[in-house]
Amino acid sequence: MSKKAVLRIGDQEVELPVVIGSEDEPAVDIRSLRKETGYVTLDPGYVNTGSTRSAITFIDGENGILRYRGYPIEELAERSNFVETSYLLIHGELPTPEEYEQFRQRLRVHSMIHEDMKHFYDGFPSSSHPMAIISAMTLGLSTFYPEAIDPTLDEETDLTVCRLLSKVRTIAAFSFKKSVGQPFVYPDNSLTYCGNFLHMMFKVPAESYHVDPEVERALNLLLILHADHEQNCSTSTVRMVGSAQSNLFACIAAGICALWGTLHGGANQAVLQQLSAIQKNDNDVKKFVELAKEKESGVRLMGFGHRVYRNFDPRATIIKEACHRLLNHLGIEDNLLDIALELEEVAVSDPYFIDRKLYPNVDFYSGIMYRAIGIPTNMFTVMFALGRLPGWIAHWLEMQEDPDNRIHRPRQIYTGELSRPYPQ
Ligand code: CMC
Repeated sequence: MSKKAVLRIGDQEVELPVVIGSEDEPAVDIRSLRKETGYVTLDPGYVNTGSTRSAITFIDGENGILRYRGYPIEELAERSNFVETSYLLIHGELPTPEEYEQFRQRLRVHSMIHEDMKHFYDGFPSSSHPMAIISAMTLGLSTFYPEAIDPTLDEETDLTVCRLLSKVRTIAAFSFKKSVGQPFVYPDNSLTYCGNFLHMMFKVPAESYHVDPEVERALNLLLILHADHEQNCSTSTVRMVGSAQSNLFACIAAGICALWGTLHGGANQAVLQQLSAIQKNDNDVKKFVELAKEKESGVRLMGFGHRVYRNFDPRATIIKEACHRLLNHLGIEDNLLDIALELEEVAVSDPYFIDRKLYPNVDFYSGIMYRAIGIPTNMFTVMFALGRLPGWIAHWLEMQEDPDNRIHRPRQIYTGELSRPYPQ
C-alpha cells in the first residue's frame, strides 16, 4: 500500500500522497492542500519545495554525488566531451556513433550568426558586461527565427536546439572581441566545438593560432562540469518563463540573466576578484576569512557553500586537480592559486565553516583555470552559461512534455495594509 502523510491543522486532518523518486527521495505531494484546507505552504527560497519531477540530473548533497542521466560526473569528466554530454542531457541517452556524428555536424553548420546581428554589437558600449550582451543577443536570435517562437515540439525544435548550442558560443566569443576592440573571427568548422570557440576567442587576423589540445581538453571538462545541476536558480528561471509557453530563445535569455547574479554563476568572477583583493592585502588569507565570518561585514567567501552540497561539491574536487594539471602544462605559476589553496585550507578547518557545512563549490577553482586559458574575468560567467546551455535546454524540453506542467504561479502570504478608503 502506498504511504500517505497526514497533516493536522486544528480540527482538520488531511491525507497527502507520498511520492518516492527513483533514488528513494521522498516527497509529500501537496497539490490538493489549498483546495482541501484553504492553507498554502510558505517556503522562502524553495528550500523544501520540489517544483517538478525530473529525470535529467541526480544530486545527493550529503554524499557529494552528481549524475547526469545516471552517469557519474567523474566518469563523464574523464571520458566524455561536451558535445556528447550535451546530447546525453538533451536526448536522455549517450549517442550511437552515427547519432553523435549527425549531432556534431548540425552544431558545425549552425555556427555562424546572421550578418545583421553583427551590427547589434555596434550599439553596445565596449565596456558592456558580456553577460548583458549574450542575454540580449540570445533573445535577438528569436527575431531571425520567427518560426521557432511557437514552443510546440516538432522538427523545428531540434533545429532551434542546435542553433542555440552553436550560435551562443559564437555570440560569446564576439562579445569578447568587442570588449578588446579586435575584429570578429568567424568560426572554423573544421575544428571541434571547444577548439572552434578558442579559435574565435584568440585568433587575430595578423597571427596564426593553434588550438592547444590540453587547453581544449580543459575547456571540455569545465563545460561538462557546468552542464546541468537540476533545479538551480537559472534552470528554475528557464522553467518558470517556459511555463508561460514562452519560446526557447526567451527562456534561455532569462536563464542567462539569472545566472549573472553573484550568488549563482556570477560567483566565479567574484572569486577571482576576492583572491586579487587578498593578494593586494599582503596575501592575508586569515584576515579575510575572519571578515567572511562577521555577518555585519557583508562579505561572504565566494566559491564557498552550496544550497544542496552539505559535504563537498564533486565538481570542485575534479576542477582542483584539473587546475594543477593545466597550470603545469602551460608552465604558469599563479599566485592566486596559492592563495586559493591556503584559503581553502584555512576555511575548511575553521569551526564557522565546518558547523555550517560550507565547502568549496564549482566556482572556487574554475576562475583560475579560465584565467590560465586567457579568458578575462568578466567572461567567466559567460563560460558558465555556455556550459549550462544543454542543461537549460534539456529542462525546457522535459517541461514541454510533462503532463503535470502548469504555468508557474506561486502563492504568497499577504502582509500589507487592510482595505482602506482613498483619501477624499
Ligand atoms: N561565506 C560565509 N558564510 C556563508 C557562506 C559563505 N560563502 N555561505 C553561507 N554562509 C553562511 C550564512 O551566512 C548562513 O549563516 P547563519 O546560519 O549563521 O545565518 C549559513 O552559512 C547558511 O547560508 P545560507 O545563505 O542560508 O545558505 P543558502 O543555501 O541560502 O545559500 C549559497 C547558498 C551558495 C548562495 C551561499 O553559500 C553563498 O552565498 N555562497 C557564496 C556564493 C557562491 O559561491 N555561489 C556559487 C554557488 S555554486 C554555483 C552555482 O550554483 O551557481
